[in-house]
Amino acid sequence: MLSKDLERIKDLQVRKNVPLLPLTSFRIGGPAHLFLVPRTLKALEHTIFYLGNRSISYKVLGQGSNLLISDKGVKLVMSLAALNRIHSTPGHTFKTIVSVEAGCRLKSLISWSIHNSLCGLENLSGIPASVGGAISMNAGTNKCSMAEAIDAVQFTGPDGSCWFQRNQLQFDYRSFRLPDKALISAARIQLDKSSPDQIKRNVRNVMRKRRTTQPIGKPNAGCVFRNPPGDSAGKLIDQCGLKGLRIGDAEVSKKHANFIVNRGKASAVQVMDLLEIIRERVKKEADVGLVPEVSIWGMET
Ligand code: FAD
Ligand code: EPU
Repeated sequence: MLSKDLERIKDLQVRKNVPLLPLTSFRIGGPAHLFLVPRTLKALEHTIFYLGNRSISYKVLGQGSNLLISDKGVKLVMSLAALNRIHSTPGHTFKTIVSVEAGCRLKSLISWSIHNSLCGLENLSGIPASVGGAISMNAGTNKCSMAEAIDAVQFTGPDGSCWFQRNQLQFDYRSFRLPDKALISAARIQLDKSSPDQIKRNVRNVMRKRRTTQPIGKPNAGCVFRNPPGDSAGKLIDQCGLKGLRIGDAEVSKKHANFIVNRGKASAVQVMDLLEIIRERVKKEADVGLVPEVSIWGMET
């Protein structure tokens, strides 16, 4: 049996029927029937080898900040939360290269970089993400994206782990091309020297802007649609007069129209229905087809 076999893998925690709702920023979603937490790269490699050989598919969970998970849940989830170490690599003259495991939170990496007088990530402050999730979504703002800080990425797939240099990687707006059947297990980030006070000032400015324009504090999954080229999905949704539109506890944020907030017990179905209404209205009134940015697990789209 699958769970019995997986339990034999050293340093792999195997849990059953784990609620995913508390592990997402949206606070929506049913359970993972099996929830795997590798504690070492070796355990991750063995697990992916086992699953790959049997063509068993699974979902990769980072910090859960860009997810809409079906109310029924999903079968198999791999959480990288325990792979979260950071260490700097000596030997580079102009840049400092920092190696970080994919499960490390971006917030922890930014705090670590401030502590070590290293700048380069502060414009990404306030993006709730694991490093792996930030790379896989090429998370960013209007000013910058994760891609700009990347020196190399380590992938782990059924054949093991290997590093790819920046010039071998393909980043686009909110997307990143992953090799087939692989996930991101670590990255090398390039940072510059700076003064901690300057970095802290920059972080404070970025966070201030976020607080004034985004519904921080209410459960949400960030912008639900990608920006169409040269335009803003939030502006288009706002212009259709959809702020405050509500289905059950799922509501188009009154602060930023490209955010849906969960006012309590919103279901995934309610959010999907709201996404559809928004899409139809923006298509009808602005003739623009919006494309979801949020990753949707376990539902037809
Ligand atoms: P998850 O939500 O856990 O996963 C997202 C996708 O990435 C899934 O498909 C998952 O399978 C995949 N994935 C995760 N880890 C890995 C891995 N190691 N290898 C392969 N695939 C992986 N995003 C922005 O870009 N800019 C913003 O300014 C921004 N602001 C936000 C503000 C708020 C309040 C919230 C809630 C979200 C915001 N987001 C923003 C969205 C979200 O933070 C980003 O998309 C982030 O990169 C998601 O990272 P995660 O670790 O939470 O990924
Ligand atoms: N706007 C409105 N009404 C709204 C929202 C926005 O008119 O309800 C207008 C703003 O006034 C502004 C323009 O639309 O003139 C752009 O808005 P904003 O600066 O908030 O940026 P955005 O394009 O909506 C993007 C990213 C955010 C990122 C911000 C900050 C996307 C889909 N969104 O938002 O990323 O935090 O820039 O740089 O790319 C995310 O991807 O999840 C996310 C939150």
